Amino acid sequence: MTAASRQAAKGTVYLVGAGPGDPDLLTLRAARLLAEADVVFHDDLVPDEVLALVHDHALITSVGKRCGRPRITQQGIHKLLIESAWAGQSVVRLKSGDPLVFGRAGEEIAALRAAGVPFEIVPGVTAALAAGAALELPLTDRKSASKLIFCTGHHAADKTDVAPIWAGPLPDDATLVLYMPGRDTSRIARELAAAGLAADVPCCAISHAARPQQTHVACRLDALVNLTCGAAPLLLLVGRAMESLLKGDTADLFYLAEQTLAAGTQVR
Ligand SMILES: C[S@@+](CC[C@H](N)C(=O)[O-])C[C@H]1O[C@@H](n2cnc3c(N)ncnc32)[C@H](O)[C@@H]1O
Repeated sequence: MTAASRQAAKGTVYLVGAGPGDPDLLTLRAARLLAEADVVFHDDLVPDEVLALVHDHALITSVGKRCGRPRITQQGIHKLLIESAWAGQSVVRLKSGDPLVFGRAGEEIAALRAAGVPFEIVPGVTAALAAGAALELPLTDRKSASKLIFCTGHHAADKTDVAPIWAGPLPDDATLVLYMPGRDTSRIARELAAAGLAADVPCCAISHAARPQQTHVACRLDALVNLTCGAAPLLLLVGRAMESLLKGDTADLFYLAEQTLAAGTQVR
């Protein structure tokens, strides 16, 4: 029996990737679990269009930790997942993108294991891959980008020293995808230059990849400090594979592009 042919089991927690926000980019397994689960606990970045796939009788709870709402702790989330499973419900823990990429899934897995709660992980399309598709841009390139690096500009709250984005030299044949870059482009530019990246390396900031409000801006590393990026959720992609976004450009001239998704993508 394949995973897709199984039903959502009572007493089990499913850590499910919601992808970048377009319901068409969910896996079949994710869509099926959303239609079957008794309860769904989701992050802030999961939009209503995805939640619309949840069964009418299911309980949907946001456990997002941003936007000024009273903060739920990570331990609070573990408790909700475990108690719902112990109550005999089928539980979906819905995370944006892929659940195993920058999503604190490790802590949730450890808590579920410690409580003896069965769980399953359902992958999703991570933001970096959605961004590449949305920009129509391969993230690797046979001549210029043989490595793909996913890293984050956001650090654990309990870290006393703020580590640089990258310690030591960065390979010059890599595409670096920076999740949660924050708004401090001058710090990012400084740290990437300190890691050995050349001033003319292309950078692209994409906001709301694969969403109707998607926008992107691009420039060279030495102009990053002046780049006005779109709203969060935002990704910064850096590397020679981004060159086509700046074709015909000079080092200090911004290329600005806004694109709407193909006709037929609708927001309900
Ligand atoms: C907590 S991380 C979760 C990443 C997620 N698990 C994934 O695999 O995409 C949240 C960050 O992912 C990035 N992100 C998520 N969805 C995005 C989107 N549609 N467009 C651009 N960036 C996105 C942003 O950098 C955002 O701050």
